[in-house]
Amino acid sequence: MKSVVLMTMIFLSFLVNLPFSGFNCTYTSSARAEPIQQKTDAFPKSFRFCVSTAAHQIEGNNIHSDWWEWEQLPGKIKNGHTSLVATDSWNHLDEDIANMKWLGISLYRFSIEWAKIEPEEGVFEETVLQQYITLIDKLHAAGIEPMVTLYHFTLPTWVAKKGGWEWDGIPRAFEKFTEFAVKKINTRVKLWITLNEPMSIITAGYISTIFPPGKNDMNSIGVPMTLMVKAHALSYHKIHKILDSETFKPEVGLAHHLRVFEPENRFSLLDHYAAHKIDYIFNWAIPDALKNGTLKFSMPFIAKLDEEIPEAINTQDFFGLNYYSRDLVSLHPFAKEKLTRAVAPGAEVQDLGWEIYPEGMGEILDEIHERYPSQKIWITENGIADQSDEKRANFIQQHLAVTQKALKSGIPIEGYCHWTLNDNFEWAEGYTAHFGLFSLEPKTLKRIPRASAKAFSDIIHQ
Ligand code: FCB
Repeated sequence: MKSVVLMTMIFLSFLVNLPFSGFNCTYTSSARAEPIQQKTDAFPKSFRFCVSTAAHQIEGNNIHSDWWEWEQLPGKIKNGHTSLVATDSWNHLDEDIANMKWLGISLYRFSIEWAKIEPEEGVFEETVLQQYITLIDKLHAAGIEPMVTLYHFTLPTWVAKKGGWEWDGIPRAFEKFTEFAVKKINTRVKLWITLNEPMSIITAGYISTIFPPGKNDMNSIGVPMTLMVKAHALSYHKIHKILDSETFKPEVGLAHHLRVFEPENRFSLLDHYAAHKIDYIFNWAIPDALKNGTLKFSMPFIAKLDEEIPEAINTQDFFGLNYYSRDLVSLHPFAKEKLTRAVAPGAEVQDLGWEIYPEGMGEILDEIHERYPSQKIWITENGIADQSDEKRANFIQQHLAVTQKALKSGIPIEGYCHWTLNDNFEWAEGYTAHFGLFSLEPKTLKRIPRASAKAFSDIIHQ
């Protein structure tokens, strides 16, 4: 009994200290995957290339959001940066679309901002939504299909004040926002994403204090997880109700952040236990709930959840995968620092210290396909913080080689979205993490293509 308590305490301390990038996983105990091939062959004609962005990270001036308030708190964002200007995307719309055309992408994933569209409860700003419609129309005119995310990490302040993802009214409120936006945008958009990365919000906002609401309470994760699944389900059904017709079928999914999560020491049972538990809770609990309507996991003494959410049954027309990295975990019951997170010895890392591990994306794609065999998959995000641009071209090529291998094995992957178009406001990292295919000229915010943008474009055009 004592050892169970000890183990769960250790586990808790790990999760509480889990940095934003630290949850994750496809749990793998086997030997490392075989090295991937370097060259990408031509992709099938039907395969789509894309870039992804998020409103708060690019637009600026999102002053009615919980994130704006969060950024005003001392010490929350690196160097005291704020999102006030971001990439000033509304004033660089034509430039950005021209750059997308030059890249050769046929799809653009972006989010519309709830906090700007409904800055006060029940007050919907038509003019703001109209701006997004202008963007969508311009994209279509440029031959680029829009993929719209309805929630990407930011809530209106009025929702946050009521409790944010712990407010039991949030699924209905999100449904109403969905209804307003979808009725206006209508059949201009076929591909919809309800929520971006629920488990990032859970980890960073409710365990490791990096995101608002800044909580550190593993016991509290059941409520926001449940409400996110409910909000997704209501939004999913609403979109279909509004748009489904004989001639038009929207496709609605959710973008999940999955990371490979492995025991650091493959001979340690404790490491295996931790990897196995985290893998399920953080990678598969929500996707399973969207398949079978049951949100269920159990970690003795720490967190336990068993919720029936029947409205969530079969509410993914596609599986959105955001893939970035892998973590190796180790449990040391008698050491001061009981649980540690490491990168594989000798592994290559990007600017934020995340391991570059393309094989992991292959492992995850295999597992998604194994768990949900008929599910279409979109790679909705994959990218690298690399200011010097020494690694990005290779990173893209390697991840695309993995994608190709998965495609050849019969996994139905619709397309690949690179994160991201321009250097932007990277949440707690402020402007210090450079994920862009384009850098920004500091004074004018003019977009400057990195060499890797050309490399990506060459792959797309081959
Ligand atoms: C993802 C987020 C995205 C960005 C990238 C680097 O997890 O969805 O907004 O922060 O990481």
